[in-house]
Amino acid sequence: MGKLVIFNHPLMHHKLSIIRDEKTGTKDFRETVSEIGMLMAYEITRDLPTVKIDVKTPVGVAHCEQLKKEVVIVPILRAGLGMVDGITKLIPTAKVGHVGLYRDEKTLEPHEYYAKFPPCITEASVLVVDPMLATGGSACHAIDVLKRRGVTDIVYVGLVGAPEGVARLQKEHPDVDIFLAALDEKLNDACYIVPGLGDCGDRLFGTK
Ligand code: PRP
Ligand code: URA
Repeated sequence: MGKLVIFNHPLMHHKLSIIRDEKTGTKDFRETVSEIGMLMAYEITRDLPTVKIDVKTPVGVAHCEQLKKEVVIVPILRAGLGMVDGITKLIPTAKVGHVGLYRDEKTLEPHEYYAKFPPCITEASVLVVDPMLATGGSACHAIDVLKRRGVTDIVYVGLVGAPEGVARLQKEHPDVDIFLAALDEKLNDACYIVPGLGDCGDRLFGTK
């Protein structure tokens, strides 16, 4: 089973309180989601493989390490886009692929409308990014798409998860580590996360 990491840090708690607040407007919501993405990037990259290299400094030779593989961030559209900017602040060389999914309001099944990935993705360390892990349908679908293309090194990065979504992702993709800023109580009848933060895509893009 992959690991489940829930961030426990005062800065994270503070920023979560901002995005959860229904009074927070588009500008602050978007900025804070991006900041949380940046904070999470440090921890989710902790296990990235490195290679040893010697670097000539002005006064000698330093034994250093550099990242061994490319990093590819795959946001699930739309809401995943909100975290990309923050993560690329820490990993500026990361490539970005996209999976477009929307959750059908009645069936709650994910529908795919877009997929485009950099050619290096099969050899890369891939971060699947989506703020909300509700039923887990979207996350599982996006990871299925990547695995069908031959991607093997995948972690999932989200802001708020529900126990139902975590259980489904762990069951369908036991090899994938899960990183969340918070694990909430449950899903409501419409499969929204409680207490959650509402519809993340709508709050990021001001569409409601
Ligand atoms: C939201 C969210 C996830 C999905 C989570 O996207 O960003 O992708 O729902 O729900 P699930 O775990 O039950 O699949 P939505 O379908 O609302 O699309 P959007 O990002 O375009 O708003
Ligand atoms: N999608 C969201 O944006 N919010 C939820 O709570 C569940 C799915």
